[in-house]
Amino acid sequence: MGASDKDPREEVIQAWYMDDSDEDQRFPHHREPKQFVSLDQLAKLGVLSWRLDADNYETDEELKKIRETRGYSYMDFCQVCPKKLPNYEEKIKNFFEKHLHTDEEIRYWVAGSGYFDVRDDNDAWIRVWVKKGGMIVLPAGIYHRFTLDADTTSRYSNYVLRTIT
Ligand code: LAC
Ligand code: NI
Repeated sequence: MGASDKDPREEVIQAWYMDDSDEDQRFPHHREPKQFVSLDQLAKLGVLSWRLDADNYETDEELKKIRETRGYSYMDFCQVCPKKLPNYEEKIKNFFEKHLHTDEEIRYWVAGSGYFDVRDDNDAWIRVWVKKGGMIVLPAGIYHRFTLDADTTSRYSNYVLRTIT
């Protein structure tokens, strides 16, 4: 691929190795120098990614196809903001506790942005920044955690995260 054929997913999904500072979890936590992780590297860990048309998710044929192919029959919305998410403070805390699931975790941002941190094979944290239009699938059994990013310093911003399983 030439430089002009940049993967459109990279505009809404970026990943990098995290530093180990104790600063606010919503900061980027880049290493010095920055150490980016490609979407191919993520795929090797089983983390899949798409870029979709978030303004037209109701009629999006591509989303429909992905759901059919992968057998995702259920979906709901989770709006991660204090007014919309019951027990917001507690949930935000729990989201950022390292955990894993026996099923895939599928998240599609129809608005806003946030960080999914996943652990690589050497237990190093990779921060995956997903913005509007980005959809990722975390494989079953991968350690991960979630936090909003620093765009959410206003407690009343509306951040929507879409869940499809
Ligand atoms: C979850 C995310 C926060 O399990 O990892 O919903
Ligand atoms: Ni999870």
